[in-house]
Amino acid sequence: MPDMEYTTLGKTGLKISRVGLGTWQFSHDWGVLEYEKAKNVISRALELGINFFDTAMVYGMGISERFLGKALKEAGASRDSVVISTKIPGQFLNRDDVLRSVEKSLKLLGLDYVDILLAHWPPCWHNFPTREYAKAMEQLVKMGKVSYLGLSDFPLELVESFASYLSVAELVVLQVRYNLVERWAEEELIPYAEKHGITVQAWSPIAKGALTGKYTPDNLPKFEDIRAQDPIFHPKNFTQVWELVKKLNEIGSKYGKKPVQVALNWLIMASPRVVPIPGAKTPDQVVDIAGSVGWRLSFEDWRLLDEISRGIRIQYSVYYVEKEVS
Ligand SMILES: NC(=O)c1ccc[n+]([C@@H]2O[C@H](COP(=O)([O-])OP(=O)(O)OC[C@H]3O[C@@H](n4cnc5c(N)ncnc54)[C@H](OP(=O)(O)O)[C@@H]3O)[C@@H](O)[C@H]2O)c1
Repeated sequence: MPDMEYTTLGKTGLKISRVGLGTWQFSHDWGVLEYEKAKNVISRALELGINFFDTAMVYGMGISERFLGKALKEAGASRDSVVISTKIPGQFLNRDDVLRSVEKSLKLLGLDYVDILLAHWPPCWHNFPTREYAKAMEQLVKMGKVSYLGLSDFPLELVESFASYLSVAELVVLQVRYNLVERWAEEELIPYAEKHGITVQAWSPIAKGALTGKYTPDNLPKFEDIRAQDPIFHPKNFTQVWELVKKLNEIGSKYGKKPVQVALNWLIMASPRVVPIPGAKTPDQVVDIAGSVGWRLSFEDWRLLDEISRGIRIQYSVYYVEKEVS
């Protein structure tokens, strides 16, 4: 296993691993609900040099934050050796709820401050003004409860508007859906991040497992699985995705790497600002994730994957009732 590779968080000087770890998996949605299992995942990540962890208030409504904080503490990770991001859901983005919910997060995480606080998604159902939550989030920076700010799933216009309201706090992270079959972030958000020295946390970087080779057109996630309703796994789309997975496998075998590792390596090569935050349910998955960095695909292989992936058009307007409804 090569040594972990590191990069810098935004313009902060903070050292973060070139691949991070998402912890939505510690929730009912993904089913890692036993603390010991979560602890094994986090411990393995630390052993392998991963120091950049992403969680959110809504992941298991506190379970993920609690498990992450406890596991880091029990593993003996010093506070300044890890960088943690957590996120406030759009419906908490009024001043009172921002302050209240961060107080709760800090308790669940067992921390005095969180490194990065992101708005998880815009307050599209509640009409909270952008200025209100920008100022409330900045207040937490002024008080030392949060070091840096970020936005997740925000369109560029709102990112610019949010940034314009900050006086002292820095916007250091944009968290975006970004993987080899969903590349919309390349249009506006990644160029904006590159221009402003912002780190891009790529979420669902292995398309929720679709790029691992574990799922095939004959073995798609079952009904109870959170992914069963995801358009990527809809047979209409997955048949296209599967062609790419076969190529990831073929290319990976040249490097002694798995499809998941090739898919993540492709992302870090796409932009020096992109830091994938894949989720893992087991320590073995963490080993694969750590092995996705510390090496590079050849330009030729990167380009070939680029070309194939550009040909894939995920159709989001899919229906599970395929017969005509009269
Ligand atoms: N900001 C947002 O709106 C947002 C949205 C989604 C996620 N996120 C963040 O991004 C993180 C990652 O995204 P994600 O969980 O949606 O998707 P992902 O990282 O693309 O996929 C994670 C899933 O892939 C499978 N997997 C992982 N490593 C594997 C390996 N080595 N071999 C085979 N399968 C493997 C696991 O599921 P199985 O083993 O069950 O197949 C795992 O749960 C989350 O944990 C969360 O922190 C943020």
